[in-house]
Formats: sequence, structure tokens, C-alpha cells
Amino acid sequence: MKATVCRKTHFNAAHRLMNRAWDDKKNAEVFGVCSNPNYHGHNYDLIVKVTGDIDPQTGYVMDMKLLKDITDRYVIQKFDHKNLNLDCDEFSNLNPSAENIAMTIWNILRGKIDERYELRVVLYETERNFVEYTGE
Ligand code: NI
Repeated sequence: MKATVCRKTHFNAAHRLMNRAWDDKKNAEVFGVCSNPNYHGHNYDLIVKVTGDIDPQTGYVMDMKLLKDITDRYVIQKFDHKNLNLDCDEFSNLNPSAENIAMTIWNILRGKIDERYELRVVLYETERNFVEYTGE
């Protein structure tokens, strides 16, 4: 008897898409306005999905309060109101695309959530553009 519990949250952050091996001209050609040298912001929506067996004692897959606390402490506090390129070591050598942000969040949470659970992360960069990362 498996189910998936989901925690939806959000954070605001600035970034600039760029490949450090390229000059500004090449970055502008590939990433367009997303490579604006003075950065730009997004209101990111994050959905963390945890799949596992329903515990017959509690009726829970996982205590949602614990999932909230882990997500707030290790992801939201880390990235909210930050410049991802400048403030966050994770992106000092990694382009902060939605794909790479989702992967980074998954890697952080994978270390905090018991291995018996399946973990997926969905990151909305805009209302219409979102990425799912499953660790595969
Ligand atoms: Ni952007």
C-alpha cells in the first residue's frame, strides 16, 4: 500500500544563466535575456514528493510536519532571497538552470530523507515552465 505525499513551497531567488567557459557574447547568444549580466529573479515553486508504504500504525507515509521542516531548513533557508550565482556555493561552478537547481535540491533532500522513500522534486521556474528530477 504505497502513496505519495507532497509538500509545496516556494522561494524567491536571482540568477544568471551562463557557461563560465564562454564569453558574454556567446552566453547572450545561447541564453538570451536569461544571461543578463545584472541577473534577474524568479518566484520558484517547489514540490517535494515522497513515495513509500502507508504505515498501518499512523496512516502516514511520512509525517508531513517533518517533510516541511526538512524542506524549510535545508532548501528554503538556503536559497530564499539569494543570488544563486553569487551567494550559493552549489552554483559557483554549476549553471543555475531550473534543471540544475532541481537536481541540487534533490541531492540535498536525498541526504535528509530516509532511503526507504522514493524522492522526486518538481521545480516551477515560471507558471508554465517546470522541471522534474528523480535522481535517475
Ligand atoms: Ni531565469
